[in-house]
Amino acid sequence: DWTPGSVIADQVAAIRAQVGDARVICALSGGVDSAVAAALVQRAVGDQLTCVHVDHGLMRAGEVEQIERDFVDSTGVRLIVRDEKERFLTALAGVTDPETKRKIIGREFIRVFEDAARQVVEEAGESGTEVKFLVQGTLYPDVVESGGGEGAANIKSHHNVGGLPEDLQFELVEPLRDLFKDEVRAVGRELGVPEEIVARQPFPGPGLGIRIVGEVTAERLDLLRAADAIARAELTAAGLDGEIWQCPVVLLADVRSVGVQGDGRTYGHPIVLRPVSSEDAMTADWSRVPYEVLAKISTRITNEVPEVNRVVLDVTSKPPGTIEWE
Ligand code: XMP
Repeated sequence: DWTPGSVIADQVAAIRAQVGDARVICALSGGVDSAVAAALVQRAVGDQLTCVHVDHGLMRAGEVEQIERDFVDSTGVRLIVRDEKERFLTALAGVTDPETKRKIIGREFIRVFEDAARQVVEEAGESGTEVKFLVQGTLYPDVVESGGGEGAANIKSHHNVGGLPEDLQFELVEPLRDLFKDEVRAVGRELGVPEEIVARQPFPGPGLGIRIVGEVTAERLDLLRAADAIARAELTAAGLDGEIWQCPVVLLADVRSVGVQGDGRTYGHPIVLRPVSSEDAMTADWSRVPYEVLAKISTRITNEVPEVNRVVLDVTSKPPGTIEWE
């Protein structure tokens, strides 16, 4: 019979058998899958695991703190946080094409991650050796989608900032390979992973970098973070988290429109709300969020984020639209 407890017991045994006393690393994105995979491996081999969080500066408000504080406190996992905000901003300067943004973010991520892997062996006093095992939060639907193959080619690269190159010689540890998302959440809860992480909606690896239509700059990230935090808070307060698959909040940085505030003319940017319902993100429908909730979000964003003078709702299904704007 399937229970979270039985999955944990089986996987702990399997992980111990696979890795022995070797070092293991895991890229912690802040998402459900990598968090639960890390917690499981930590349960199995303790401090042989080091998690790495690459802070690319494209996370939403409070997310890095959630990893640094809540996740570490509740699991006792050993964590290296690399503050690489400047590096990513510099690499993204002047870039507007969505796929180019993804490639740049993926490339920089890998460089930092490889460097962190060296840091792990150095700090362990094992310079010259290499970390052999890499934890991936691959789920059963990912395995099916990628044809069920083994090895590096099987790592989600298209949709994952952790899409590591094939010449990166890690052996994969994938303790969630047989599980669906709701099962992963149940296992995470049983392992004591904080509810804010376990219940999280999907968030793309390239983060807010692909939610700014136009160039990514520090100022734009700040105002998008502020608008996103308001939208998230109001949707949660309205009890809509269960109904909404995810709600991208998008800054149209290259668009300006005329507005009026007080007695003054404004010439600001629009924010797009993109709440969707979905089963698996392959198709989606726009969520019929109650007007009062939308009104509250709109009022708060335009009052509290001065650069934004218009809030618009995306009422496109997928297809033909995708969930994200980029
Ligand atoms: P789209 O926009 O293709 O999104 O309808 C489908 C799902 O995938 C997420 N998404 C990404 N996730 N890296 C990721 O890790 C990406 O580059 C990426 N692009 C889209 C999106 O948030 C949605 O859940």
